[in-house]
Amino acid sequence: MSTAETDAQIINPEMPDVPPHAPSKINLKDYTKPSFDVETVHLDIKLFEDYAQVDSKLEMVRQTAGDIVLFGESLELLTITMNGKALNTEDYQQEAGKLTIYNAPERATLDIQVRICPQTNTALEGLYMAGSGDDTMFVTQCEPEGFRKITFYPDRPDVLAIFTTRLEADKRYPTLLANGNLVEAGEVADAPDRHYAIWHDPTNKPSYLFACVVADLDVLTDSYTTSEGREVLLELYAKSADIDKCDVGMQALKDAMKWDEVNYGRAYDLDRYMIVAVSQFNMGAMENKGLNIFNTACVLSSPETTTDARSFSVKAIIAHEYFHNWTGNRITCRDWFQLCLKEGFTVYRDQSFSADQQSSAVQRIDDVATLRAHQFSEDAGPLAHPVRPESFVEINNFYTTTVYEKGAEIVRMIANTLGPNDFRKGTDEYFRRYDGQAVTVEDFLSALSITDEKIENFIDWYRQPGTPVVSGSQTYDSTAQTLTITLNQQTRHVKGFDAPKPLPIPVATALFDKDSGAIVAERMLLLDEATQTFVFENVASEPVVSLLRDFSAPVQLNYDYQDADLAFLLKHETNGFNRWQVTQMLVNRILLQGQGTKSSPDVYLEALAQTLPVLAADDAMLAARLLDIPSAQELASAISKDYDPVLVKEQRDGLYKQVADKLKGQWAELYNNLPMQSYEDSAEARGIRALRNVVLDMALTANVDAAADWAQQQYDNASCMTERFGALKAMVNHQLVDADKYLADFYERFQANDLVIDLWFSVQAAADDVTPDMVKSLLTHTDFDWNTPNRVRSVISAFSSQPTVLWTAEGLEMYTGVIQKLDDANPVLASRLLQVLARWNTLAEPRRQMAHEQLVDLQKNVSSKHVLESLESV
Ligand code: ARG
Ligand code: ZN
Repeated sequence: MSTAETDAQIINPEMPDVPPHAPSKINLKDYTKPSFDVETVHLDIKLFEDYAQVDSKLEMVRQTAGDIVLFGESLELLTITMNGKALNTEDYQQEAGKLTIYNAPERATLDIQVRICPQTNTALEGLYMAGSGDDTMFVTQCEPEGFRKITFYPDRPDVLAIFTTRLEADKRYPTLLANGNLVEAGEVADAPDRHYAIWHDPTNKPSYLFACVVADLDVLTDSYTTSEGREVLLELYAKSADIDKCDVGMQALKDAMKWDEVNYGRAYDLDRYMIVAVSQFNMGAMENKGLNIFNTACVLSSPETTTDARSFSVKAIIAHEYFHNWTGNRITCRDWFQLCLKEGFTVYRDQSFSADQQSSAVQRIDDVATLRAHQFSEDAGPLAHPVRPESFVEINNFYTTTVYEKGAEIVRMIANTLGPNDFRKGTDEYFRRYDGQAVTVEDFLSALSITDEKIENFIDWYRQPGTPVVSGSQTYDSTAQTLTITLNQQTRHVKGFDAPKPLPIPVATALFDKDSGAIVAERMLLLDEATQTFVFENVASEPVVSLLRDFSAPVQLNYDYQDADLAFLLKHETNGFNRWQVTQMLVNRILLQGQGTKSSPDVYLEALAQTLPVLAADDAMLAARLLDIPSAQELASAISKDYDPVLVKEQRDGLYKQVADKLKGQWAELYNNLPMQSYEDSAEARGIRALRNVVLDMALTANVDAAADWAQQQYDNASCMTERFGALKAMVNHQLVDADKYLADFYERFQANDLVIDLWFSVQAAADDVTPDMVKSLLTHTDFDWNTPNRVRSVISAFSSQPTVLWTAEGLEMYTGVIQKLDDANPVLASRLLQVLARWNTLAEPRRQMAHEQLVDLQKNVSSKHVLESLESV
């Protein structure tokens, strides 16, 4: 703080302890209970050509002393009455985002009328219009604080109420949906073009789970009978052109319903479950009670238009939102600091569900790869925060990979520490104790610790930011026949937090006999001090130690391995995940160790050459993963100082080329052993397609003569999008002569399908030879649309995967220009895109200075608290 501001504070003690323009922070420690509860809410939402009127009736009951506090944003207040009497201006006060009613009695019935404008709501929060021309629909996104853009309300997750919703609109929107059960529908008297529907949700819920839809949609219908005998109507709503892409999602929903009954004893609790697909959506999907709203990209799937990876994630997201019905909806969060309570647990649940749908090793590989690429990097940078943050300016900025993915890792550590039986006892206890309540992370841990009180110690994982680094070494005593492993942990001290404490870190460990390759001992070591030693008895000869098996904790591991040990483990590890982990360690040693001390790639290349051909025939998906070399972007995230994007890319591409060349003689055989077959959605078929795409790219990299022909044939004869897009991507990235011709063909074939055109944009924006000018021309393409987040991401997020272009004056100017443009229209999206630039301060000069200047400039030109908070550390 400057002295001028300090002086101002002395003169005026009311002055807040922040610079005058800085948005204010909300703190966990300031939590207080609401003074009023809401028993029932009646909403009447009437949509007109260019506005909507929302009438609400709230039955409120006093809980503690204090005023009634309602939140409201972008609302035009028409009338407000309490217990039938119009409020005078001295009875209430309206200020920035808040309406306070003084002197309320024990029970208060509030009648409020507001006018809103969904047609101009580009932020996609609250009630907004999606689409354009005569193809429009109205949908809501209320989590976390969108409901206050619909009406004045105690919009906080610890206020639970019973909602009844009446929707009224023109008949050209035949689909009128809200949470719960349909009670009534009909014509509007005196308005022959209008109709209405009334929905009633019998469950108590916070306002962030409210949803409604006014649209013209087709529906795919199915049903499910729960383990409790409830007959549930399942409906998936989409535009008529997309209704043929709803079967995968519907099947996933039924699978998820069954899975939750079997694995957690949780059955669905309403008579109807609806999912609606919308093309303009800030996030993936939303778990509104009985009425999920999904980004089209996260629910629509068909072999011709959707890659296998996408389709697999559609299933996972359907499951995720369904699982929220118990972990999030029936038991919800006391306040938004507890976001990880529902998200971490629900991500853990959807990851476990997905692991049952494919090889569990591949599932773990993909989850860990995501964690390492995104969460570790967030935790290492200026936006690092605890899984349960202690303060925020804008909660939308905290829907992060730390809250979600690291949150899931904590639940996983707890589950693994307890073992399946005790974990199930704990979750049963959690559901028994807290059903219908809004609770905290402490409550969660307290229920899970009924069989083992040490589980409560995991609370520090929620409080402390930073990725722990576990280092270790071993000594073998041949006389005593003991192996001693010494491990220590260290977490960086993040500015603004207490000095880090040692955390409970489960380290799954196995000892391998060097001669036979067999496992001689297996143990879960619990490292919960700064340094600890663990002794294994009766070890006949010095073994190779495999640590952190299945990635038993979200930490970085530095163990004093020889390259040969890792090569040994690649051969002998029994678990597919651990084999992949070993390849990643080898790659990191080659690419990332301090200058001069890098490992030579020989051991890695030799080990791959031996492993790959065998594995390809055995488990194609795993074989494809073993060829992973982290992207340049991901490698950068492990560099804390003097990051040179050009150098990293050169080295990364260099190693990739070495792998391609090393196996040059084998690509043709591998490729030909993976023939294209008619489409099948099995783990095996997906594995073959994945490996074929990797092999194709490798062969092109190694300049295998026939490879360009393979690419064209694969494109022309593709049975599905995975094959077609894999070929197209390879042609574009390797700048094959016909790439443009194929790009044009792809565009023409799929012109009518937005999600495929997103792929078309992204393959160009992420191309190896992309330039800022090419991106600019994509941004002015007739199909580009600033109001569709999927389209914006298809260019901007895709482009950010090319650090050598992003981190140039021109690249950054383009990128920050986009943020500035979106700052006002859609601050949630703007802020998320901006987070990619958080690691600017690790760049080597002169880029660092240049990036800093551009971010300072950006700071002057933006006004949303979302974006300003993400720029706080600049
Ligand atoms: N609860 C949703 C999910 O994870 C995410 C919604 C977040 N929306 C937002 N605007 N931040 O399933
Ligand atoms: Zn979620």
